[in-house]
Amino acid sequence: MASRANGQSQASRNGLKGKVLTLDTMNPCVRRVEYAVRGPIVHRALELEQELRQGVKKPFTEVIRANIGDAQAMGQRPITFFRQVLALCVYPKLMSSPDFPEDVKRRAERILQACGGQSLGAYTISSGIQLIREDVAQYIERRDGGIPADPNNIFLSTGASDAIVTVLKLLVAGEGRARTGVLIPIPQYPLYSAALAELDAVQVDYYLDEERAWSLDIAELRRALCQARDRCCPRVLCVINPGNPTGQVQTRECIEAVIRFAFEEGLFLMADEVYQDNVYAEGSQFHSFKKVLTEMGPPYSTQQELASFHSVSKGYMGECGFRGGYVEVVNMDAEVQKQMAKLMSVRLCPPVPGQALLDMVVSPPAPSEPSFKQFQAERQEVLAELAAKAKLTEQVFNEAPGIRCNPVQGAMYSFPRVQLPPRAVQRAQELGLAPDMFFCLCLLEETGICVVPGSGFGQQEGTYHFRMTILPPIEKLRLLLEKLRHFHAKFTEEYS
Ligand SMILES: Cc1ncc(COP(=O)(O)O)c(C=O)c1O
Repeated sequence: MASRANGQSQASRNGLKGKVLTLDTMNPCVRRVEYAVRGPIVHRALELEQELRQGVKKPFTEVIRANIGDAQAMGQRPITFFRQVLALCVYPKLMSSPDFPEDVKRRAERILQACGGQSLGAYTISSGIQLIREDVAQYIERRDGGIPADPNNIFLSTGASDAIVTVLKLLVAGEGRARTGVLIPIPQYPLYSAALAELDAVQVDYYLDEERAWSLDIAELRRALCQARDRCCPRVLCVINPGNPTGQVQTRECIEAVIRFAFEEGLFLMADEVYQDNVYAEGSQFHSFKKVLTEMGPPYSTQQELASFHSVSKGYMGECGFRGGYVEVVNMDAEVQKQMAKLMSVRLCPPVPGQALLDMVVSPPAPSEPSFKQFQAERQEVLAELAAKAKLTEQVFNEAPGIRCNPVQGAMYSFPRVQLPPRAVQRAQELGLAPDMFFCLCLLEETGICVVPGSGFGQQEGTYHFRMTILPPIEKLRLLLEKLRHFHAKFTEEYS
């Protein structure tokens, strides 16, 4: 203590003052956070773009960012109806313009009436505008074939990410072996590992079965749970359906089995359903956990705790930048639900334009309204193109020796497995890189294609993957897939 005091006085005598916040003194949980989707590979992609702009010669003329599920960044056009309503909400003077259909005006008016001072610029209540929560409840009821949803159980959020982290915050408690363990799929969307690291919760990995199209196997869940009980108290089971990065769509039977498992083992269920509109494969269908849970009847329907998440970022709208989303909680303890509302109130409210956008997503134009035809055509076009791109991706990858890709049944990504020659693995190790990171970096340097290494999502030891979005326009995607295939062949030859 004395030497520290002396050190400080010496430092101040010299006019030097050490930083209060350093890597050693900062929150160690934050240091442990990793988020591969925007990790080192993306930083290198940004540098390459800068170099291209400065005229540096490269073997490619543009960097193609197939690393993140951001549809509009890849050229997808916004849905006209959504943007028209938003335009009027943001600038109500346009209400008198003849350029906007009547139903657009009515919709904007309705949203503005529900805002403080009839302005999108006012805070809303923390759980979101009541009218919009009611519209969300009606959407869920329609989606789930009439199963009721209570607006009081719906909380609007800043994208789904915010709601996922909020629910995790409520669940993480205890010390040592009593610390909350959270089961997450591997491969996973790295929001989960990042949030768990930040909250200092225990991550419990359960592996999806690549040999069976990334299906979720209850025996594997049980293995993960039993092993985890030695080091933590598993209390949460997270499921991503349709899957990111793996693109699988769960069957109803699988969902029922997961619910039974969660019930028997006393686990809180978190169902990440942000890709509920993105189902392409024939015979695949989205089943919400809420619907299946309710239809299973008591005790599941009356006791099993569930939080399910949705977002405006994905689907056919891809409105990531508006940061709209919601969580619906089912069978949550009433007192805890109050705590959740309190926690949300600390952040005042989710962005109001995002809330307005969510309202349009959950209550699009009705068939009788003037905007319906165009809305329906735009929606179908995006979804049909995504379905074609999902098929194309699977087909091209599976024609390539050394690459294997499961069907992209849903979501927006392929997660192909690549064989990497032992000399490439060795070279990566010499460079201190994960082998698939080495592959992805070489791919980026040589072709300008930016994909995310499988190691950022988790994978079985000794297997290598990368995640690529299916979002580029179809002709660009075709070119990109061909380039990738050639690069892999060349890489394999070089290191064989
Ligand atoms: C599975 C999954 N959950 C949640 C999110 C977060 O989405 P947002 O916060 O934009 O709603 C994403 C984004 O890619 C995702 O893929």
